[in-house]
Amino acid sequence: MKVAITDYQYDDVETEKKIISDSGAEIFIFQCKDDEEQLIKNIADMDAVIVQYAKITANVIQHLKHCKVLVRYGIGVDNIDVEAATKKGIYVANVPDYAVQEVSDHALSLILALNRKLLPMMASVRHGTWGYNDIRPMQGLYSSTLGLVGFGRIPQQVCRKALPLFKEVLVFDPYIPPDFISSKGAVPVSFDQLCTRSDTISVHCPYTDSTRHLFNAETLKKMKDTAYLVNTARGGIVSQRDLEHALQEKEIAGAGLDVFETEPLAADSPLLAMPNVICTPHVAWYSEDSLKFLQRKVAEEVVNVLSGNVPRNLINKSLAK
Ligand SMILES: NC(=O)c1ccc[n+]([C@@H]2O[C@H](COP(=O)([O-])OP(=O)(O)OC[C@H]3O[C@@H](n4cnc5c(N)ncnc54)[C@H](O)[C@@H]3O)[C@@H](O)[C@H]2O)c1
Repeated sequence: MKVAITDYQYDDVETEKKIISDSGAEIFIFQCKDDEEQLIKNIADMDAVIVQYAKITANVIQHLKHCKVLVRYGIGVDNIDVEAATKKGIYVANVPDYAVQEVSDHALSLILALNRKLLPMMASVRHGTWGYNDIRPMQGLYSSTLGLVGFGRIPQQVCRKALPLFKEVLVFDPYIPPDFISSKGAVPVSFDQLCTRSDTISVHCPYTDSTRHLFNAETLKKMKDTAYLVNTARGGIVSQRDLEHALQEKEIAGAGLDVFETEPLAADSPLLAMPNVICTPHVAWYSEDSLKFLQRKVAEEVVNVLSGNVPRNLINKSLAK
């Protein structure tokens, strides 16, 4: 059996190598994510493929001769054409329970830093201004409303951590029963209500055709001009151009972004020059703990499938039958 890692951003992949070779399979390590032709050459003959950011398009999938499973390093599988994989009978799996605490902590850090205006305060001190004049007005967190888009694993943790801090937590998730949202202490609302009522909105839905540019010129205008937007989910959910415009026109008060439409973020992005915007380099997932967990889990999933089992964390569930 042959297993490939298409690309990875870690210091090494020794954990994956050990788990996979101990199972008797051969492992091939590549660093190829943008060159589709090379990617196809690398993985066409593999029985299992571990993917980080490489785009596994329908064309790539078409060339896979006997691949059983594509395992994503992480939660989002938006770089894999799941429909094409399903048609070809290839399992797609992820690691849904990794970094849930890290991402929810990161989102909360951005939410708190924006609301407490930490960056403008730092700039104020740097410029020799003492006192609160430069950062007025500021609302107390306990009188403000947090809105969450999506109510999966990560935002449920954001909700749990934020409830003692905020006046209320609103949630928009069309696929989760309102009773479940209420049982967690939050208030189920429509997307429109979330936009108009929240003082901070934190985005946590997956990136799909229906969530692409969910935040655009029109929906950003619905937000309060004092509101903050935080995105730790996927860049494409927010139109970056429309967000830049909304910030420039002061239609919203600021943003905290870990993900961008194009990554890495261009060094000349206007977002980097804005004092009310915090940008982090798609690292919300990171801690040494989550890193080790992820590397171990992807390798174990591969071994599990090559032993004849259905993936533990199967995305294209129709293949389980
Ligand atoms: N920045 C990072 O480092 C990082 C790390 C891990 C995950 N993520 C991203 O975080 C996001 C959330 O992860 P999770 O583990 O909570 O996901 P999850 O799979 O547990 O939950 C996703 C939720 O989104 C809901 N949803 C689907 N479409 C929606 C829509 N149109 N509007 C509102 N809600 C919708 C679903 O009903 C589900 O409850 C994903 O986009 C993932 O890619 C980012």
